[in-house]
Amino acid sequence: MEFLGAHLAFKSRWQMTDKELCRHSMSFVLHKAIRSDFFESYLYLLEKYPLVKLFALTSEVIDGEMQFYARARNFYRDVPATEKGMMGDFSDLSNTDIDSSREFLRKFVGGPGKAGTDFALDCGSGIGRVSKHVLLKFFNNIELVDMTESFLEEAQNYLEKDADRVETLYCYCLQDFTPPARKYDVIWMQWVSGYLTDKDLLTFLLRCKNGLKDNGIIILKDNVAREGCRLDPTDSSVIRDIHILRSIIEKTGMSIIALERQQGFPDVCVPIWMIAIQ
Ligand SMILES: C[S@@+](CC[C@H](N)C(=O)[O-])C[C@H]1O[C@@H](n2cnc3c(N)ncnc32)[C@H](O)[C@@H]1O
Repeated sequence: MEFLGAHLAFKSRWQMTDKELCRHSMSFVLHKAIRSDFFESYLYLLEKYPLVKLFALTSEVIDGEMQFYARARNFYRDVPATEKGMMGDFSDLSNTDIDSSREFLRKFVGGPGKAGTDFALDCGSGIGRVSKHVLLKFFNNIELVDMTESFLEEAQNYLEKDADRVETLYCYCLQDFTPPARKYDVIWMQWVSGYLTDKDLLTFLLRCKNGLKDNGIIILKDNVAREGCRLDPTDSSVIRDIHILRSIIEKTGMSIIALERQQGFPDVCVPIWMIAIQ
């Protein structure tokens, strides 16, 4: 609470400045005073609001947002557009992953009060491994969004005859992508949330919320740290613990309606969780 005074002083000084002075002709002294009040006010917010703490936490770990994103883009430039490329060292576990995803998804679609089966969006789709083996088994049409162009090009071969049921392939970074409003029954995000900063994950989830139809859900499947937020420097991603993920999700006004741990992966793997959000 020790910065509360500074925070309030900053707020009232800024309001006054806005009303009584032209901001562009602010005197040097006033400018300096405001800058130091601003910093103390920021420290106050840092103590008070967990979200500000979260942003600070991620930025501590990633060492610069632009570099964090650039390193991930470089990493994927050299990854082959194959199932093995999508699964890293665990390609032989793709079927285990897919079976569990189907079982999990089945609970939330295709019945009264559940999500419909018309349209799904695969976020961070890669070549469309999840689309091919999970989403296209449930939905009439799908769309894919991924930042890596070569993966989306390959998706058109990889999905074979089902490629006809892909309405659009969006080559975008999720932090810059806005899903069309009220279009999707399910938005699937697998092994991609860790490539976004807390702030970008939060705002992306908010945009996804707008992209859902009534009863629509978001499914986030990802590695989940045992504690805290860890950087994986190899591919420039973070692994968050469940408390951090929950806190980000709840700040969107949605909540976690189901949570299930992926079974059948070796103990050496970071635990993987499937999270249904509505
Ligand atoms: C580990 S692969 C997972 C692919 C797919 N979800 C699957 O499970 O097979 C991660 C994917 O996320 C994509 N990706 C990473 N950062 C991204 C970002 N900021 N925006 C969009 N796609 C991103 C990569 O291009 C890659 O295709």
